[in-house]
Amino acid sequence: MFKLCVSMLVLFTLVSCKNANKKSEDSTKLKSEKAILMDLELGKTVYRANCAACHQRNGMGIPRVHPPIVNTKNSEGDKNYLIETVLNGARGEIKVEGEKYNNVMTNFKKLSDNEIAQVLNYIRNGFDNSAEVITAEEVKALR
Ligand code: HEC
Repeated sequence: MFKLCVSMLVLFTLVSCKNANKKSEDSTKLKSEKAILMDLELGKTVYRANCAACHQRNGMGIPRVHPPIVNTKNSEGDKNYLIETVLNGARGEIKVEGEKYNNVMTNFKKLSDNEIAQVLNYIRNGFDNSAEVITAEEVKALR
């Protein structure tokens, strides 16, 4: 009986491994390259510690005070604009999703290149959304 149990267990493990392999084969090359460069766990930690107070945990911000930064045209658009906003902060009037904002965001120079890259990857890919990956090298180039 014990032998049978063990062999069933081995068989089950083998079958699940095979399925897991098949799944990863199915995902496109691009997706796996993206997964290697992104660290959404780090991005989430950095986001919750530095950004969520204003932009809220869900990234939707506060109307007319702090703009939304998840699922917006800007946040999933030009990478340099996003990197520079985090590196230098932001002030003055901007329009986000048809709403005007004229407030101040402090800069986040204190964060490392990788922390900035990952927090931006998190807002662009951590909410069932998807945009091109931002790398620490790209942040370094603009610092
Ligand atoms: C003190 C509140 C505050 C914090 C903390 C903060 N922001 Fe902001 N953020 C703002 C405000 C206010 C604006 C709009 C500034 C303006 O009116 O010009 C903004 C703008 C932005 C924009 C540009 C949005 C657009 O559509 O143009 C991005 C991207 C952004 N913030 C990301 C972040 C990230 C990432 C963090 C954390 C590292 C962060 N912010 C932390 C208040 C904050």
